[in-house]
Amino acid sequence: MLDRLREDIRAIFERDPAARSMWEVVICYPGFQAQTLHRMAHALWLRDCKLLARTVSHFGRWLTGIEIHPGAKIGRRVFIDHGMGVVIGETAEIGDDCTLYQGVTLGGTSLHEGKRHPTLEEGVVVGAGAKVLGGFTVGRGAKIGPNAVVIKPVPAGATMVANLARMVDKERDKVRAEQAEKMGFTAYGLSDDMNDPTVKAIHGLLDHSVTTDKRLDMILARLEQLGVDCSKERAAQDGFDPNYLNRIVEE
Ligand SMILES: CC(C)(COP(=O)(O)OP(=O)(O)OC[C@H]1O[C@@H](n2cnc3c(N)ncnc32)[C@H](O)[C@@H]1OP(=O)(O)O)[C@@H](O)C(=O)NCCC(=O)NCCS
Repeated sequence: MLDRLREDIRAIFERDPAARSMWEVVICYPGFQAQTLHRMAHALWLRDCKLLARTVSHFGRWLTGIEIHPGAKIGRRVFIDHGMGVVIGETAEIGDDCTLYQGVTLGGTSLHEGKRHPTLEEGVVVGAGAKVLGGFTVGRGAKIGPNAVVIKPVPAGATMVANLARMVDKERDKVRAEQAEKMGFTAYGLSDDMNDPTVKAIHGLLDHSVTTDKRLDMILARLEQLGVDCSKERAAQDGFDPNYLNRIVEE
């Protein structure tokens, strides 16, 4: 028990240059306090004292602003910095040496019983305000950027940034559907990530290329009607496939 506490304090010194003394960590670090209480709550949970476990966990939340379900499994030397607003769900698992900042949610997206919260392998860093939602694994050493929303497995060592939120704009969808009917194609028809300016720009360019190709086709057809031989120009057409490029952008 004392060894674990010493280990936790050492981990905080290693990862927070602001920490000055052992007593400062014990008194002023909510992450340290929440995890100490969680160890008690988890032990009670495993001994089937569920209500008492929830009560200890609730006291921890009241004291620190960090909500850790007593069923969650937390490894060694995990550092929850600042902590306020952190929520860790019942079936979440956090590997050794992970770091979580304030406002992180390790949550679920379904009401099914069983594994519905994420597993973080060793050494994962989850930035302030990030939401990791679902019963998948975030691979060893991965980094989740501040405010990222992650809903799919993350490979080891990957860095994940930005979130998935987008505005659902029915009017815009209608305009795009009309555009797609006229052009026979629209990159936006499939888009899921309208929050990302790079994706927006690429979709805009794809739509523009398709329109430009159509106009060139019309010009060649007119010239051919006037008796001009355009076979060379037609042969020079490249294999531009907007649907393929669209799919790459969407993945
Ligand atoms: C995101 C993070 C995990 C990645 O660290 P890193 O591997 O050193 O990578 P970088 O900081 O160089 O960023 C890599 C890329 O992600 C982008 N990025 C970083 N954070 C981002 C965010 N929140 N949203 C969108 N893009 C972001 C950077 O602009 C950079 O893009 P570029 O390669 O096109 O220039 C790290 O910077 C971080 O923010 N850690 C958490 C810190 C935190 O929460 N602190 C709170 C203290 S109170």
